[in-house]
This record gives sequence, C-alpha cells and structure tokens, in this order.
Amino acid sequence: MFESTNISLAVKIIQEGGLVAFPTETVYGLGADALNPEAVAKIFAEKERPSFDPLIVHIASLEDIPRLTRNVDERVYTLAKRFWPGPLTIVLPKSDIVPDIVTSGLPTVGIRMPNNPIALALIKSSGCPIAAPSANKFGRISPTTAQHVRKQLPNVDCILDGGPSFVGIESTVIALNSDGFVILREGFITADDLKTVLPSSNFPVESGNKLSSPGLLNSHYSPLKPIFIEGDNSPKSVEFLKNASLYRGAYLSFSGKTPESYGVVDYLSKTGDLREAAVNLFGALHRLEDNPQVDFIVAEPVPLREIGIAIMDRLKKAAYKYKK
Ligand code: TXA
Ligand code: MG
Repeated sequence: MFESTNISLAVKIIQEGGLVAFPTETVYGLGADALNPEAVAKIFAEKERPSFDPLIVHIASLEDIPRLTRNVDERVYTLAKRFWPGPLTIVLPKSDIVPDIVTSGLPTVGIRMPNNPIALALIKSSGCPIAAPSANKFGRISPTTAQHVRKQLPNVDCILDGGPSFVGIESTVIALNSDGFVILREGFITADDLKTVLPSSNFPVESGNKLSSPGLLNSHYSPLKPIFIEGDNSPKSVEFLKNASLYRGAYLSFSGKTPESYGVVDYLSKTGDLREAAVNLFGALHRLEDNPQVDFIVAEPVPLREIGIAIMDRLKKAAYKYKK
C-alpha cells in the first residue's frame, strides 16, 4: 500500500483491476473500474460490505450518461448543469454495460460527478467510470482524510491524498419520478436546493425492492464507542451519564456550549454553523473514537434545517445501535 499524490500510479492500479482510495469533496471513496466486475468485487470484500448495498458510479464527463443509463432523461442535464460536479447522486435506469454487482442486481445505477480535481483526473485518465462507496469498513465512520482511510482499510493498494474533504458529508441521493425528484439519502444538497430546478415528487420511488435505497439502514456511521444524542434519555445513556467514575464522557458541541461534567469536549462548530458542522462531523467522531480518555460520546443535536437534516441523519444512525 502506498499513499501518493501521483495520479498516474493510481490510474495504472485502476486499469489493472485494483483498488484506489481517492478524495472527493464529500468523503473519500474506495474506487475500482466500474465496468470490471472482478475489480468491483474487491470493494465489497475490502469494506466487508453486504452485496445488497449498491455502489455509486463516478463520472468525469456527461458523455458517460448515455453509455451508463437507458432512456436518457433530459432532467439529468438540468440537474447536472446546476449541481455537477458536486455532491448529488442521481439514480437512473442502468444500461447493460453496468455490471450487476455494482447495482446489487437493481435495474438502476446511482451516478455522480465529484467536485474534486484529483477524483476527476483519476476518472478521466483511467478511461473508465469509477465505482466507489465511502472508503470505510461497512457500518463505521466515513473518512474525510487519507489518514481516516488508512485507519480502517490498511490493505488498500493506493490512497491518493487530497487533504481534508471540504463538504464533509456524503452526497444527496435522489431518484426521478414522472413528476419530480425523491430524496433517497439526505446530503449536502437539500430539497430546497433541488426545488430551484425541479419539483419534488408526490409519489414514492417505484421499486420492486422493499427498501427504495437498499443501503439506507438504521445503523451506520458508528464509532466503536457508544454515542448518544443529548436528551435521548435511553436507559443505556442514563447508565453511562450516572456513572461518571466508571465511564468518561466526551461532549460533541454544536453551539459552542461546554457542559462541565465532560472531561473532553470536541466541536462540530463553536457558533452553531451548520456547514462547519458538516465539514467537522466525521473528523470529530474519528478523534473521539481514537481518544483513549473517552469511553462514550454525547452529541448536541443540530437544528433540522438545511444541511442539519443530513447531519442529524448521520448522528441518529451512528447512535442507533447503542440505544438499546
Ligand atoms: O458522497 C458520496 O456519495 C460518497 C462519495 C465517495 O462519492 N459515496 C458514498 O457511497 O457515500 P456509499 O456507498 O457509502 O453510499 C451510497 C448509497 C448506497 O448505500 C445506496 O443507499 C445508494 O447510495 N445507492 C447507490 N446506488 C443506488 C441505486 N441504484 N438505487 C438506490 N440507491 C442507491
Ligand atoms: Mg458509506
């Protein structure tokens, strides 16, 4: 494994069917040639990701749309003009060249053009679209730096280091219906942003699948230590909070407040700034997970507006498995 800013070495690895972790504006991705099923299989193995959870295909040019999708929908170009390159993934009917392993057997494929020069150069120079989930082990904290990737995926062939991701939270995933868009996963681009170019749909996503987006599980993004959302009052959180002599808590502050009962305080923001909180979210969770002085984490909730909706989605999923 090597870390590099040398794109040509990474290109060679992609072309030979290997894995490259690369920076995007949202989180780091774990990439392989999207048209090579054996290469894509390595992503699932390395991440220990269940095969029912489909991958996003990353492109660097709109010319890939008609190759990868069927019945090209003109609205894709409207969305692309406004939001690409950027943190928006559009789920579209897939063409035959997209291997079933990429889409977990679904007839649709999620496509996005990332807003990061290293990612775009990697895709262009490799000459293939790149399938990439976030570069973390399944269920764990997403990476926003090359160091985060190395911590969880030490065996990846190559990690391209592009510095910290400047958005910090995953792309918004949408599907299109006859009358507009449906959000499948909350992300940096909000429903209000999308409504500036398309109406939101009145219908649920048409899908033979039970889950409209199979990767949307209740538990995800979890640190290896218990995390609670302040005020959730679950029996387990009460037990941790009552036993200060046994368990050392860390407080993850959003507003800047620093309750005295916590030995460690980390910040999403010191001023209640939602964009700053998104950028800091996964980095703060990694720091607290790594801090030997911390046994559990209590996160201050953020307001459910703008990107706060996506931040709360991530925090709730991180806390889910520790609730019971
Ligand atoms: O910002 C991001 O989206 C990052 C960077 C690396 O691009 N990628 C990312 O990938 O977050 P991942 O695999 O961690 O999450 C992608 C999610 C899947 O779990 C699934 O819910 C949804 O996108 N998805 C992908 N393809 C889909 C499809 N065909 N239909 C419905 N949902 C899909
Ligand atoms: Mg992920």
